[in-house]
Amino acid sequence: MADRDTTGGWLWHLRAFFRRRQWNPTTELIAEWLDGVQPAHRELLLIGGSAGWMMSSRWLQQFERVVLIDIDPYAPTLFRWNHGRALKQSSTRLEFLQCDALLDLGALLNTYPNASIFFDNLLGQHVYRVPDFDRAENDLNKIAQRLAGRDWGSVHDLFSGPADPNTLPAKPIMSFAATQSALGSNVDGVTGTPLHRRMLDQVGGVDEWMDHVTSGVFPLGTKTRLIAWPFVPTYVHWLQAGWVSAASSNQ
Ligand SMILES: C[S@@+](CC[C@H](N)C(=O)[O-])C[C@H]1O[C@@H](n2cnc3c(N)ncnc32)[C@H](O)[C@@H]1O
Repeated sequence: MADRDTTGGWLWHLRAFFRRRQWNPTTELIAEWLDGVQPAHRELLLIGGSAGWMMSSRWLQQFERVVLIDIDPYAPTLFRWNHGRALKQSSTRLEFLQCDALLDLGALLNTYPNASIFFDNLLGQHVYRVPDFDRAENDLNKIAQRLAGRDWGSVHDLFSGPADPNTLPAKPIMSFAATQSALGSNVDGVTGTPLHRRMLDQVGGVDEWMDHVTSGVFPLGTKTRLIAWPFVPTYVHWLQAGWVSAASSNQ
């Protein structure tokens, strides 16, 4: 794993603050999806939580303890600014650990054996932190194995690219069971159109798109939801959100 901090910090906070309104439909869709997730534990490791710009306070309120994990030292102050009041209402304790969660994943899992784990929009950025594409993909393909027996979920970039702003707003969600891989030969059962084509059409995707090499993150068969995130009107990310319960993560 690399040491470059290209995924968070002040630039992320400024963007997220000023684009909050434009990102709100995506944030709402993530919150709606989270409402349907029932974590097994009352303790949460929130990995890459940053300031929780796109996180649902409502969902966090069910936990007794949230351990926010990020390489960004500004994360806890801004996270409290966004979610402090809600967490106080639900008597949820918030703690912060500054570390590279992918490097230290083994130690974190041992230290918190009774925690659910949520990767909050960080796995899709791994490719920016590790200069070698194959290595990034290889690291990500091992995540499910490293989390075997644990209750965990993730929302992450699947792919992203330029889009025709006139096509927006996109119809933002599709659900599918990842029987093969997120981008591979999945075919929409209704129309027979390849999934990637449908996704591009929905957001007016043009030119060259980037694969965030996350399509092997979830174990095969995990039911996931795809959520469009117009980062700016001319550049869209497709996020994939999924949850793997402890029982199924053992398979
Ligand atoms: C796109 S931002 C996610 C933002 C956050 N989920 C929100 O709603 O504001 C990605 C975050 O992951 C953090 N991050 C990236 N790689 C990390 C790693 N290996 N360990 C811990 N944090 C990491 C970055 O510092 C950044 O805050």
